[in-house]
Amino acid sequence: MASICWFNQAFASAAASRRVYSPPSSSCHILPGKVLTRSLRRQRALTPSSAIAPRRVSAFSVVAQGVANEEMERRGPHDLLIVGPGVLGRLVAKEWRKEFAETCIVGQTMTADHHEELVKIGITPVLRGKELIPKFPYVIFCAPPSRTSDYPGDVRLALSKWSGEGAFLFTSSSAPYDCDDNGTCDEDSPVVPIGSSPKTDKLLKAEKIVVEAGAGVLRLAGLYKEDRGAHTYWLKKGTVDASPDHILNLIHYEDAASLSVAILKKNIRGRIFLGCDNHPLSRKEVMDLVDRSNKFSKTFVGFTGPIGPSGKKLNNTKTRKEIGWEPKYTSFGDFLGVSVK
Ligand SMILES: NC(=O)c1ccc[n+]([C@@H]2O[C@H](COP(=O)([O-])OP(=O)(O)OC[C@H]3O[C@@H](n4cnc5c(N)ncnc54)[C@H](OP(=O)(O)O)[C@@H]3O)[C@@H](O)[C@H]2O)c1
Repeated sequence: MASICWFNQAFASAAASRRVYSPPSSSCHILPGKVLTRSLRRQRALTPSSAIAPRRVSAFSVVAQGVANEEMERRGPHDLLIVGPGVLGRLVAKEWRKEFAETCIVGQTMTADHHEELVKIGITPVLRGKELIPKFPYVIFCAPPSRTSDYPGDVRLALSKWSGEGAFLFTSSSAPYDCDDNGTCDEDSPVVPIGSSPKTDKLLKAEKIVVEAGAGVLRLAGLYKEDRGAHTYWLKKGTVDASPDHILNLIHYEDAASLSVAILKKNIRGRIFLGCDNHPLSRKEVMDLVDRSNKFSKTFVGFTGPIGPSGKKLNNTKTRKEIGWEPKYTSFGDFLGVSVK
């Protein structure tokens, strides 16, 4: 099911072909597979149905026919821009579509490599750096820090695409929490100071920009699904030179998406939330569960690093209470259908 939104061919194609872009003052009504502007709907009402084939009328041709911007409807109140429509971003889009079926969802990517896939699932793709996007009432930033030299800069750019209505959510990481003795951490626990590591610096600088702009942050624990996450990486390696006792905090990708959507829908400003399943496990426990699940063809050999605590145990009871959210998968073991021994 591919939804075409006002942003899609009309403005992207128009800008690409004419090398100009005038932001639309308004948007189209979005239905799966068609674009209906107010004027087009009016035209449909006045014209015999045989004379109009809305599925073949692209938004670009509507523009080309001289339908002026002012004749087009205002953009939708729940239109969503996803910066980084990867694994999490696509699940967010799916959840968002359940709530707001006829809204426009645009996904901003680094490359055009996955644009076809995005179109197929109803996300209108646009390349990072293309100054084509008018402001959106809802924006979620779920691009990882690994592909850019200026992560805070990318977050700032995404904020410039937010209209200030609705909400903006930056999906950060729980990595900056200052704890390495397998102790407990929650939303209010202190974070490491700037300068501790390039990884935490990127995240903390980006978070600061977000909170100062009145937007929200969701610090996520390790994301996983059956074929993605720390367990798949370790399975591939077989033997891993790391401590078996290090505590890992996890959240299933689907739960991270449902929590993100729940936070976005609350329109909360300037706050930091935490996303985790409240079932921290040691690396060894994670791989023992993998082994006992019989869901994986490969066999993990073991961890060969030094024994001893080096992680943290996350708890997001405050986030759950405030947002009114609970995960579908209460733990990694629950997801695999295996209990921790
Ligand atoms: N994985 C974890 O365990 C974990 C833990 C804590 C927090 N997080 C956070 O969770 C979020 C989602 O993670 P994920 O695993 O779903 O990510 P992912 O699948 O790796 O996301 C990839 C997507 O992001 C796009 N992208 C990458 N860098 C970009 C940039 N600078 N600007 C715009 N688009 C960019 C990619 O574009 P292309 O299509 O061109 O490749 C692709 O669409 C991220 O913010 C990540 O930092 C992850």
